[in-house]
Amino acid sequence: MTFSKILLEWYVLNKRELPWRNTSDPYYIWLSEIILQQTRVQQGLTYYLKFIHSFPTIFDLANAEEDTVLKLWQGLGYYSRARNLHYSAKDIVLRRNGDFPDNYDEILNLKGIGPYTAAAIASFAFELPYSVLDGNVIRVLSRFFGVEVPFDTTLGKRKFQELAQELMDKENSSEYNQAIMEFGAIQCTPKRPKCTTCPLSKECVAFNDNEIERLPVRNKRIIPKKRFIHYLVIDQDSKVLFGKRKEGIWNGLYEFPFIEFQKNIDCSSVLSSNKWIDFFNGLDYKVEFVSEEFIHKLSHQHICVRFWLVKMRGLNVVNYKLVNKFELYNYPVSVLIDKFLQQIKFS
Ligand code: ADE
Repeated sequence: MTFSKILLEWYVLNKRELPWRNTSDPYYIWLSEIILQQTRVQQGLTYYLKFIHSFPTIFDLANAEEDTVLKLWQGLGYYSRARNLHYSAKDIVLRRNGDFPDNYDEILNLKGIGPYTAAAIASFAFELPYSVLDGNVIRVLSRFFGVEVPFDTTLGKRKFQELAQELMDKENSSEYNQAIMEFGAIQCTPKRPKCTTCPLSKECVAFNDNEIERLPVRNKRIIPKKRFIHYLVIDQDSKVLFGKRKEGIWNGLYEFPFIEFQKNIDCSSVLSSNKWIDFFNGLDYKVEFVSEEFIHKLSHQHICVRFWLVKMRGLNVVNYKLVNKFELYNYPVSVLIDKFLQQIKFS
């Protein structure tokens, strides 16, 4: 039996029932794929259901306010996904009267869609013969064929893409793509893959050479940037300064004014730093409370945050407005600010 036949047989017996697998509507498939990037299926499922409930059609998503979309996305992280989703929904409604593009190149042209997502939508919604290549697929191919070339290099990406395209069942691209991803997700897992029950193990190079642990090979280890952010929760008669961030990973989310350092400095050094002194600009203030550290680890950044609750009067900061403390809960915020707000229970 061929590689693809074995995978397809395995898939029929082992696949999880997931709602986006019972539709060929490109809007639903697109939503699910954007949510599932960098998110586990179990967590993604809840958000997928929330999104299709709130925005049953692409018109509903396009007509929504950005704050509403971001609030619904809250907790999923990597917010540029939500901003691009919203942007592309508006684009499709405006330029195409809501008709989702039905060919690979036009799908790839949408903001927020890369080669993986374009291939997923093209195959799942339109049965077009484009193979998907994600971490799951790379792992399966690297182990089964003993591919040693690092996958995070130009050469590696090309090799894996060519191999994936060659192996795909072109008559059955939707099912085949789902099958190989699902196989990577639940059988050929990164740690402790289930080789003893694997239908491909007899011919799997990594299994036969005892190289499962070593493959696939990555070239560069990402060294995350460390950031130390001190949020200043400036309480002025029960209202606090709050504003919308305009750049970076939290673009579009609301937050308190902050000062940031590249090193982890203790609280007394924060209080005597130039950044702190410049911020308060000679005005009287009283620090009421300093929070514990909240840590957030992303692939490229490790962020450590503290919240300082400060009572004072008369401070204005450009781009921040005064918001009632109990209303802070209505705004889309990062998971770190959400954790702080849940703990402090402003009312
Ligand atoms: N991860 C990314 N896309 C997926 C899909 N369609 N089904 C399950 N897991 C996925």
